Amino acid sequence: MANKLLDVQKLKSGYGKLEVLRGVSMHVDPGEIVVIIGPNGAGKSTLVKSIFALNDIYSGSINYKHKNVTKLPTHERIEMGIGYVPQGRQVFPTLTVRENLEMGGYLTNEKDLLKKRMEEVFKHFPILQERLNQLGGTLSGGQQQMLAIGRSLMQDPQLLLLDEPSLGLSPKAMKEVFQKVLDIRKEGCSFLIVEQNAKQAVKLADRIYVLEEGKVGLHGDKKILKNPKIKKIYLGGHGHD
Ligand SMILES: Nc1ncnc2c1ncn2[C@@H]1O[C@H](COP(=O)(O)OP(=O)(O)OP(=O)(O)O)[C@@H](O)[C@H]1O
Ligand SMILES: [Mg+2]
Repeated sequence: MANKLLDVQKLKSGYGKLEVLRGVSMHVDPGEIVVIIGPNGAGKSTLVKSIFALNDIYSGSINYKHKNVTKLPTHERIEMGIGYVPQGRQVFPTLTVRENLEMGGYLTNEKDLLKKRMEEVFKHFPILQERLNQLGGTLSGGQQQMLAIGRSLMQDPQLLLLDEPSLGLSPKAMKEVFQKVLDIRKEGCSFLIVEQNAKQAVKLADRIYVLEEGKVGLHGDKKILKNPKIKKIYLGGHGHD
């Protein structure tokens, strides 16, 4: 209980009058990779947006590192060590790789620290160093996802929120991105990952939450994917996994 890195309780949130999350409780322990699955429109992106203060919170609480951050704005949550990579990657297409990374470090004024952070990003993603002066928009899909993750690493987060990092990637690029997640976790970063592809999620996840219509339907370790209901919905229901 006392150990939770992120603790979301009875969260109700949405957009103006549209309540999307209808009382979601979930948590991430230090060092964990927690994966959220669920059908389109279930509120998966809304959950990670709420954790990053990007939509309206009506009630419930979000605690991070044992502090109530429910009312804190995004930049304060970033300063506390939360990073976010939105669905669809959204790198700045007309900025170079270097400029994209510098944007990620915008809260850091110290040049030396920025340089150090960038070196750390290159350690995980050598390809970004090779492509420093290439425009973000001209990278391959997998490279753009790496740039988007690298950009969020520039603030040295302890919790990274990744919204569908495998979307639109080839199986090979997806595997590569997931391997990077495991590498980054080894350095002590925890992850909350939204993933449509349950079959892939199971390879990464310590725990899984299934979100359905703004509520947690099922929650547990990877074994919940053996649940016939889940198998049918998320694994195509053909019984081979
Ligand atoms: N900016 C917004 N303004 C108003 N409604 C929104 C906004 N973003 C999302 N919604 C609505 O909130 C609901 C949940 O959307 P959300 O993006 O969280 O779903 P999701 O589970 O991430 O789905 P997907 O798998 O398609 O990404 C949907 O009904 C959607 O139309
Ligand atoms: Mg989404």
